[in-house]
Amino acid sequence: MAATATTTPTIVVHGGAWSIPDDIAEASQAGVKTAAEAGYKVLTTSGGSALDAVETAVRILEDDVVFDAGTGSVLNSAGDVEMDAIIMDGRSLRAGSVACVQNIAHPISLARQVMEKTDHTMIAGVGANLFSKELGIPQVPTDQLVTDDARKQWEEYHKYKRAVNELFDSQLGHDTVGAVAVDSEGNVACATSTGGITAKRVGRVGDSPVIGCGAYADNDSGAVSCTGHGEAIMSVTLARTVTFNMEQGASAQAAADKSIAYMKQRVDGTGGVIVVSREGQTGVSFNTRRMPWAVVRDGTIRFGMNPGENFQNEFTNSS
Ligand code: GLY
Repeated sequence: MAATATTTPTIVVHGGAWSIPDDIAEASQAGVKTAAEAGYKVLTTSGGSALDAVETAVRILEDDVVFDAGTGSVLNSAGDVEMDAIIMDGRSLRAGSVACVQNIAHPISLARQVMEKTDHTMIAGVGANLFSKELGIPQVPTDQLVTDDARKQWEEYHKYKRAVNELFDSQLGHDTVGAVAVDSEGNVACATSTGGITAKRVGRVGDSPVIGCGAYADNDSGAVSCTGHGEAIMSVTLARTVTFNMEQGASAQAAADKSIAYMKQRVDGTGGVIVVSREGQTGVSFNTRRMPWAVVRDGTIRFGMNPGENFQNEFTNSS
């Protein structure tokens, strides 16, 4: 769809669903605010696109050790790091994603290279690592990506099923990161990145890098990034369900709420979504104990983490 020239640049960021332990709650809230502000500056000061903004925001979250993406990723059943990421351009409907990639700091940027430099949409495993080496992306030893919290969580949960059940209200759980944005030209984009779920099988791929599941962006409706139980999210193609509800006339918030309720009702799924519409309306919805999020639009930052929270501060590009 042709973009309009009057859209107010807007970005929404999340730091993952599940329980978010109290000892990292404050850092998680601060982390999403920092990432959202950086993405907003790309949209407003640097004249960047929605794609540039979501990549910038997610790279910051991948570098932040409190989040399950990049550095801070959780460990699979073998005690190793395998990361998934996707980025999507709502103007072209082109997406790029990587699955089970290892030894790089920023899977989201590799996903963007898949979109922009290959004829493919998704590259997995050794192929993704090979591609990163071809591009000259620095290889990072696994130990550099692993935090003490990730090891502790792995020691606690050797079984994926147990990890999924207890992530909801334990003091260990955190998940995937993501960002959605609309730029001044009315183009929308989304980005999602994750280490997945603790004790997942080697080679298990969750929702995050799967188009229409962990993320979706279409200039005709809006952009979505998801977090939560990957298998449930894939069962209902959660991100595409949100944009479908928007196509049927729901607001960004109503589409988010309706889609989370649908996942709960159909597959007893838990998780969260963030949404931006092509007009810059936003939506945030989750049915886990917590999900840190932040929205920046029109000189204001809104944020929250617990159900019902919606704090607000003024934001300036120099802040
Ligand atoms: N939502 C992340 C995963 O299930 O892998």
